[in-house]
Amino acid sequence: MKGCYLFTVKEISDYKLIEQTAYQNDSLAMLGKLSASIAHEIRNPLTAIRGFIQLLHPHLQQLGKQEYGKIILAEIDRANDIIHEFLTSSKPSVPQVGMIPVSALLKEVVLLTESEALMKGCQINLHPFQEGDMMISGDVKQMKQVVLNMIRNAMEAVADRVDGLMGKIEVGAHKEGSEVRMFISDNGKGMDIRTLDRLFNPFFTTKENGTGLGLSVSDRIIKNHGGCISVSSRVNEGTHFVISLPLIH
Ligand SMILES: Nc1ncnc2c1ncn2[C@@H]1O[C@H](COP(=O)(O)OP(=O)(O)O)[C@@H](O)[C@H]1O
Ligand SMILES: [Mg+2]
Repeated sequence: MKGCYLFTVKEISDYKLIEQTAYQNDSLAMLGKLSASIAHEIRNPLTAIRGFIQLLHPHLQQLGKQEYGKIILAEIDRANDIIHEFLTSSKPSVPQVGMIPVSALLKEVVLLTESEALMKGCQINLHPFQEGDMMISGDVKQMKQVVLNMIRNAMEAVADRVDGLMGKIEVGAHKEGSEVRMFISDNGKGMDIRTLDRLFNPFFTTKENGTGLGLSVSDRIIKNHGGCISVSSRVNEGTHFVISLPLIH
């Protein structure tokens, strides 16, 4: 059969990107609503169990088993903490905008995590600030949450290194034109391309006890502040996260 053929080729990568972003935003919004109701449902029975265990305390004491009561209480408190953390990380509150000195922000988060890192045999090194005090505008709690998420991830990546090399995390910031670049680098287990492709997706985790929320929430917070997060990583060498944000003068 003779004739002409007409082919059309359409570049759809932009559509795919929009579709993916919409999917991510949708699942985050849904997660916010879902987590609030689940947290309530779980908290109520936990409170009841906590109360009854306290009432049983004298009986446990008679049996010489008061240790059991203590363990149950401690575990209930831990479960409550997990719910609380899950709620706060999945539902960023309305940002309280203020001026944030970058050096103070990083110093505070490093101070918070230093002892935990030392206990895990890992060093956090805060680089000296070269360019006076850089200021950004935003919600200081949310900003701390982002840096904390990244340092925690770095500590976990360092702990997972197979060769037992001393864990090192580098934290610092420098000016780049009208932006500040905060970096968090580690010599941890690194990431392969499959992980790199999906690491900002809500619920994506490679950890047994992970929530997969830290980076998706961080990404949203930084985008809300007019910035972006970039990452480079090599398996068994380490990972380098950069948070870019507009400076204010
Ligand atoms: N510094 C890092 N080094 C190696 N892998 C990382 C690092 N940061 C994040 N990841 C990968 O990204 C995934 C998602 O991270 P995150 O959103 O914080 O969730 P979670 O920590 O609960 O797994 C992690 O499970 C891990 O595989
Ligand atoms: Mg995390």
